[in-house]
Amino acid sequence: MSDLRTALDAVLADVPPARLADSVRRLIADYRGGRPAEEPLLRNMVDATAYAAYRMPATHAAVTAALRHLPPIGPRSLLDLGGGTGAAAWAVADVFGTVGTTILDQVPEALKLGQRIAKGRLEADWRQWRLGDEAPDEADLVTVSYVLTELTEEDQRSLVGLAAGAARQALVVVEPGTPQGYRRILTVRDQLLAAGWTVAAPCPHQLACGMRGRDWCHFSARVNRSALHRRLKDAQLGHEDEKFSFVAATRTPSGTEGRIVRHPTFRKGLVTMQVCREDTVVGPVLVSKREGSRYKAARDAEWGDRWPPHSSGSEPD
Ligand SMILES: C[S@@+](CC[C@H](N)C(=O)[O-])C[C@H]1O[C@@H](n2cnc3c(N)ncnc32)[C@H](O)[C@@H]1O
Repeated sequence: MSDLRTALDAVLADVPPARLADSVRRLIADYRGGRPAEEPLLRNMVDATAYAAYRMPATHAAVTAALRHLPPIGPRSLLDLGGGTGAAAWAVADVFGTVGTTILDQVPEALKLGQRIAKGRLEADWRQWRLGDEAPDEADLVTVSYVLTELTEEDQRSLVGLAAGAARQALVVVEPGTPQGYRRILTVRDQLLAAGWTVAAPCPHQLACGMRGRDWCHFSARVNRSALHRRLKDAQLGHEDEKFSFVAATRTPSGTEGRIVRHPTFRKGLVTMQVCREDTVVGPVLVSKREGSRYKAARDAEWGDRWPPHSSGSEPD
C-alpha cells in the first residue's frame, strides 16, 4: 500500500481538489445509485483522476484483503477485467509479487492515468476493451473488482463467464459490502459452483449461504486517507473502513473450517464471535478466559479470520 500511496501522491500532488469536486460528487451518487450504467461512469480524465484520488486506495485495500484469503497458488500472470486505474493489479503485486499483468477496461483515460501512476513501479499491459469485444487471453489469476455494479444482470453473467473461462488457477470477484453487492456475489458464487469451481473464501463450504435472507456477508479493510482524499470527502478522520463482499474461487479444492463474519466482541473475560461454519450455520461462538490458549487466539482474532485459527485449510496465516 505504501508504494501505491507514494505513486498516487506523486501523480495527484498538483491537482487542485476543487477541480475534482464535481466528479467526486457525481461518482459517489452514481455508485450509490447502484443502477447499471448505460454510458461509462468515468467520462473523462477528470473523472478518472477523481476516482483514483477518492476510491483507488479503498478498492486496493479491499482486493488486497480478499486476495490474502486465497490458498498459496503462486500465480505468474494476472488478468484484471474492468481494471480502471489498476487498483487490483497493485493488490496482486503486494500479495504475490511481480506477475505478468494485463489490465483491460473500456475507458482509455482510466488506463492512461493508471499507467502514469504505475510508471516505474508496476509493469502491465494496459488495453482498452469492452465487454462484447474478443474474449481475453488466459491468465493464472483473474480479478474483477467493483465492476459488476455497473452492469446489467445479463452482462454480469457474461463477464463472470469470461473471467472464469480465462482463469487457469483462481478467480477473485470483489463488490461493495452492501446487501446489493453481497447479492451479486452470491449470484457469482452460484455461477462458479455450477461451473465446477471451488469456493476458497470467504465460505467454509460449497453449500447455500447460511446468511441468505437475514444478513449479508461482508468484510472490512482499513484505509489510511491522504490529505487530498480527506479534502475531497470533506472528512476529518485519517482513515476509513472499506466494506466489501467477495468470492475467491479456485480450480482445485481447498478448505477452511470456519470464518469470523463480524467484529468479535470482548466483555469481561468472554469473546463472542459470529462464525460461519462448514455446516452453513452462522452463529455465535463464545470463548471464555478459562479456555487458556483458545481464549488467547480468540482475543487476537479479527473479522474475516478463520476460526478455529489453525484449521486444516491451506490459506496462509
Ligand atoms: C468502479 S470502477 C472499478 C475499477 C477497478 N477495478 C477498481 O477496483 O478500482 C469500474 C470499472 O469497470 C469498467 N467497466 C464497466 N463496464 C465495463 C464494460 N462493459 N467493459 C469494460 N469495462 C467496464 C469501468 O470503465 C471502470 O473502470
